Amino acid sequence: MLTKINHIGVAVKSLNDTIPFYQDTLGMTLAGIEEVSEQKVRVAMLQIGESMIELLEPTSAESPIATFIDKNGCGIHHIAYEVDDIEKVIAKLLGEGARMIDEKPRQGAHGTSIAFIHPKSSNGVLTELCQAGH
Ligand code: CO
Repeated sequence: MLTKINHIGVAVKSLNDTIPFYQDTLGMTLAGIEEVSEQKVRVAMLQIGESMIELLEPTSAESPIATFIDKNGCGIHHIAYEVDDIEKVIAKLLGEGARMIDEKPRQGAHGTSIAFIHPKSSNGVLTELCQAGH
């Protein structure tokens, strides 16, 4: 089912202001920056071992990340587990009564398929399932 922690999502106001801390101070490798217009975010991925830190910068006041920062300030937004077969995992979760934000996978950054579990079903932790792109 779940194979590893793929990444931890962190909400930030500005990628430009935040990347130097991860890249230079902490010494992580910047794996890429991409805009996901559907989510109104710019995303920077920083590699740390077999996992990544995903910095999320809102590109509009209507971005879910802007709403998150307004409510909670900058900080950890979600945890993402890698899965081999996202459809199968979603079906299992729904079958066991979990609430999904995404009942069908949608496109994430870097060609991934993703789906979020509702935090009500995951003890307040917004949880993403993430299947690597082909
Ligand atoms: Co994510």
